[in-house]
Amino acid sequence: MLNLPRTIEWIEGKVRLINQLLLPDKLVYIETTRWERIAEAIKNMEIRGAPAIGVAAGFALALVAYHTEANSLEEFIKELYRAAEILRKTRPTAVNLFWAIDRVLQAAKAQSLEKARRKVIEEAMRIQKEDEEANRKIGEYGERLIEDGDTIITVCNAGSLATSYYGTATAPIYLSVEKGKRVKVIALETRPYLQGARLTAWELKQAGIEVLVATDNSIGILARKEKIDLAIVGADRVTRKGYVANKIGTYPLALVARVHNIPFYVAAPTSSIDMSIAAPEEIAIEKRSPSEVLYIFGKRIAPPDVSAIYYAFDITPPNLITGIITEHGIVYPPYDKTLMSVVRGKNRC
Ligand code: MRU
Repeated sequence: MLNLPRTIEWIEGKVRLINQLLLPDKLVYIETTRWERIAEAIKNMEIRGAPAIGVAAGFALALVAYHTEANSLEEFIKELYRAAEILRKTRPTAVNLFWAIDRVLQAAKAQSLEKARRKVIEEAMRIQKEDEEANRKIGEYGERLIEDGDTIITVCNAGSLATSYYGTATAPIYLSVEKGKRVKVIALETRPYLQGARLTAWELKQAGIEVLVATDNSIGILARKEKIDLAIVGADRVTRKGYVANKIGTYPLALVARVHNIPFYVAAPTSSIDMSIAAPEEIAIEKRSPSEVLYIFGKRIAPPDVSAIYYAFDITPPNLITGIITEHGIVYPPYDKTLMSVVRGKNRC
C-alpha cells in the first residue's frame, strides 16, 4: 500500500498542507484557519499542481464558511464571492482552480445561512475525496499500459504532491508497483522550479521506486540511448480538442517521444478538461517572474543587465498525444469526439 504524507487536509476548521517550497530538504506543514493564507500558498507555489490547487481553493472557501461572522445568508454569500474573486487571481492556467471554486459557489446556493455554510464545507471535502478516487481510477486504467521492467519518463510533478493522493501521472506507476511490476522512472528536473528533481524524485523515493533525475535538455539523447518505454505527464488544462497545457518542457518531450516512437500519454482527471475552449490560443499561459530563471537558490546566474523570459507552461497538440488517461478510461484520438464521452462519465477504455 502506498504510504505517502497527505498533500493537503481539512482538520475541523483548519487546513494543513505540505510546504512544497521546502522539499526535499524538510517536510514542513503549513497550518492555517485563514483563507487568505491559502490564496498566498497557491500564488507562491507552497502548494501547486492542478488538482491540489483546486482542492486548496475549495478548502479556502470552506474556511470562509467555517469561520464567518456573517449574520445573514446575503452577507455570507458576499464574503464568499469576495474570497473567490481573490482565489481566482492566484494562478491562471490550471482549470481545476476555477472548476473547484465554481463548484463550491454553486453549493452555497441554499435556503439558510447555516445550510449554505454546511454545504460549502461538504462540497470542498467532496472535491478532495473525488480527486483521490479519480486518481486511483487513472492508476487502474494506466497500469495496464505498463509492463514489468518498463522505464517511464515524466516531467514536472504530477504526483501525489500535486493532488489529493496517488497523483495523475504517477498513479499508473504506483499501481503497477502495487501489482508487483518492476518499474524505473526518469524524472526530468523541470527548470526553474525543479518539480521533477525536488518533488517527483522525493515522492517516488519515499514510495520505494527507482528514480533517475535528468536535466530537461537531455531528452534527445535519453530517447536515443536509453530504453524508454512510455512517457506519462500530467495536465493543467485540456481543451475539448485535446490540446494539453502542462508544465514547460512537456511539448519538447512529446516531440522527441514522437520521433523516437515512445508512446506519449497524458494522465488527467476530468476536472482538468475544459470543454468551454477548443483552441490552444484560448488557454491562459502563466508567465512568472524573470527572477525565478535568473537566480538559483538566491545566486544570480546571468549578467546583471540581462533579463529572462519564463512561460511556466507549454501546450502539446493532440496529434502528439497517444492517449489521455482519465478516471473514466483511456481516450484516443479524435479527441474532439472522445473527450466529450469521458466528461459525460462514459467509459472509453
Ligand atoms: O507550476 P506547477 O508546479 O503547479 O505545475 C504543475 C504541472 O504542470 C503538473 O504537471 C499538472 O498540474 C498536473 S498535476 C497532477
